[in-house]
Amino acid sequence: MTARIIDGKALAQKVRARIADDVARLKAEHGIQPGLAAVLVGDDPASQVYVGMKHRATEAAGMYSRQLELPDDTSQADLEALVGELNADDAIDGILVQLPLPDDLDPQPVQELIDPSKDVDALNPYTAGRLAVGDPTFLSCTPYGVLELLGEAGVDTVGAHVVVVGRSNLVGRPLSNLLTLKGNDATVTLAHSRTKDLAAVCRSADVVVAAVGRIGLITAEMVRPGATVIDVGTNRGDDGKLVGDVDFDAVAEVAGAITPVPGGVGPMTVTMLLQNTLEAARLRRGLPRR
Ligand code: GUN
Repeated sequence: MTARIIDGKALAQKVRARIADDVARLKAEHGIQPGLAAVLVGDDPASQVYVGMKHRATEAAGMYSRQLELPDDTSQADLEALVGELNADDAIDGILVQLPLPDDLDPQPVQELIDPSKDVDALNPYTAGRLAVGDPTFLSCTPYGVLELLGEAGVDTVGAHVVVVGRSNLVGRPLSNLLTLKGNDATVTLAHSRTKDLAAVCRSADVVVAAVGRIGLITAEMVRPGATVIDVGTNRGDDGKLVGDVDFDAVAEVAGAITPVPGGVGPMTVTMLLQNTLEAARLRRGLPRR
């Protein structure tokens, strides 16, 4: 293997230790304990795992964590009423409604109800719009984590061509907006299922970010020698193991640096959720972000 492995687990540990220190100081100096509410509707096994990880990480950082589990047949009105209660609850600084919701629930009106000052998941269209106009409030957790990983790996995004594959509201769209902010200054191509000759587009990239959710999407032939490859995919292989969108073994022979799955982007998504919750707790009380 030639590529350097970008260790998201190690970076997450480092950043979480700093967040825990900041939380301890906030408590000691201002009597404030940041609080995160995570809402899980239904019994999707992957979502249960993710929400459980977020809950444990929140408590480990010294924050207050409230996990709300609602049955599969929860009505749209009941879910929206719960968000209203959490908006009004002063112990809660951040609200997260885990996706996907069961089929008969519409996520968009729920996300629109989340108070922007508590929108640590950054999925309210207001929050997404603030990023799109270059004046962000909270950064979407996975894109924020990708940016931190690139920084840790010493990859300069200024003037670099970044190809983001996948145009989801959770990752691709906010990441392309984040990368083009002043200071990050990347030249971004947002590729998707209708992109012509995806292989050639990817081969022109200094950085490829795969965020589609398809095993084996990015092959070695699609990566320019020395390029950086960030794998956001979280798929279950036939053996039940977690695998990304990138053909890791082959691509690692070509790339200059690469994130593994697991142990790459995933731990950083949770970490940036904690960072946003800490910032929300400070901002809601008139304190500077940090
Ligand atoms: N499902 C998968 N990732 C996420 C995330 O970052 N936030 C929410 N709300 N749901 C998700």
